[in-house]
Amino acid sequence: MRTQVGIIGAGPAGLLLSHLLHLRGIESVVLEARGREQIESTIRAGVLEPGTVKLLMDAGVGTRLAAEGIVHHGFELAFDGKRRRIDLTELVGESITVYAQHEVLKDLVAARLAANGALYFNVSATAITDVDTDSPLIRFTHDGVEQTLQCDFVIGCDGSQGVSRAAIPAALRQDYERVFPFGWFGILVEAPPSSDELIYARHDRGFALVSTRSPNVQRMYFQCDPKDSVDHWSDDRIWSEMHARVDSSEGHHIVEGRIFQKNIVGMRSFVSTKMQHGRLFLAGDAAHIVPPTGAKGLNLAASDVRVLASSLEAFYREGREDLLERYSETALKRIWRAEHFSYWMTRMMHRLEDASAFEQRLQVAELEHVTTSRSASAAFAENYAGVVQV
Ligand code: FAD
Ligand code: DHB
Repeated sequence: MRTQVGIIGAGPAGLLLSHLLHLRGIESVVLEARGREQIESTIRAGVLEPGTVKLLMDAGVGTRLAAEGIVHHGFELAFDGKRRRIDLTELVGESITVYAQHEVLKDLVAARLAANGALYFNVSATAITDVDTDSPLIRFTHDGVEQTLQCDFVIGCDGSQGVSRAAIPAALRQDYERVFPFGWFGILVEAPPSSDELIYARHDRGFALVSTRSPNVQRMYFQCDPKDSVDHWSDDRIWSEMHARVDSSEGHHIVEGRIFQKNIVGMRSFVSTKMQHGRLFLAGDAAHIVPPTGAKGLNLAASDVRVLASSLEAFYREGREDLLERYSETALKRIWRAEHFSYWMTRMMHRLEDASAFEQRLQVAELEHVTTSRSASAAFAENYAGVVQV
């Protein structure tokens, strides 16, 4: 098999890239290890920055997003028994949209299949070779049979556990990492929304987040031990923890409902540079991970592939290689900004294992500052909405 651009992974990065290339007349093949049902039902991210929404709309895959996405003009911070609002629209003229990642994936899969795009499920890439030639190869297995895909370029969009990153020689790579000693316990709840907007709560017992999926389904998270098991958490224990962390002394209470899904995710910050070697390029979680606190992961995957799509277009249309050569440098500016923001917000909002009572009061002092100083609120809003200049 041969194609112009071989893409490993049908997550947001791989599918969106394939679609953006199609719109530019560039052919691609997407190889995905999991099945279609699996990728379309895995619960992950939920918040889209305005830039991501615009990219999806401009690419013609925003019909359901426009109809079903829930636009929020701000979000709430809960701390010290009170609630304070960050007004994104007033501060930076922007809004975010709550629309689940697996819904974005459904829209992208439908668009690729409608355009007769080559998208293969249950196909695992095992190795990438010849990346320092003009004709790199992806080796993959399908139904136990080994096959190869010959490409002009290989794009590794295979997430944090994929094979692509390892195809860049370790001697040419620098990895930066910070693993957090806590995780997020996520629940899906059948209930009406507890609030009109997301609530990020800092409490001495730990962080909690109240998000939404639809008028009848809510998404909530609370900080937990990443090694804990969902089996240790009865519904009653979960609700008592959520109430303790989120309810305010000003009379706000979260609304309980039937919990129909529970999961625990670990948290880390990670960046691998360079994100390219020869004709191999990495995008999304394959190259970088953020803790989920700032809701940046999916949005960074989208901004990486926006850069790649225009760089590949310049190559195929005009024979230009300069944009591809500068891909890592261009993408990393936004990535490091988001890494810093996610790390900063994580440390301001979570119970830190080694924090003294003094440091806990500093967290509250910082929350007071970012919710009362206009310039500090605006900087927070700019970063959260992803409209900060890099
Ligand atoms: P992935 O989505 O991981 O896709 C990689 C794909 O590659 C997978 O489908 C995988 O099966 C496939 N693959 C792997 N190896 C191979 C192989 N060898 N061969 C073929 N295919 C392979 N981000 C946000 O922006 N906003 C949020 O609100 C947010 N909340 C989150 C909440 C949680 C609980 C979690 C876990 C994450 C959250 N994120 C959020 C992060 C976001 O989900 C990820 O950053 C995003 O999925 C990255 O997309 P990707 O395409 O790079 O990788
Ligand atoms: C969601 C996830 C996040 O990481 C976040 O910061 C906000 C919302 C969510 O899944 O809805």
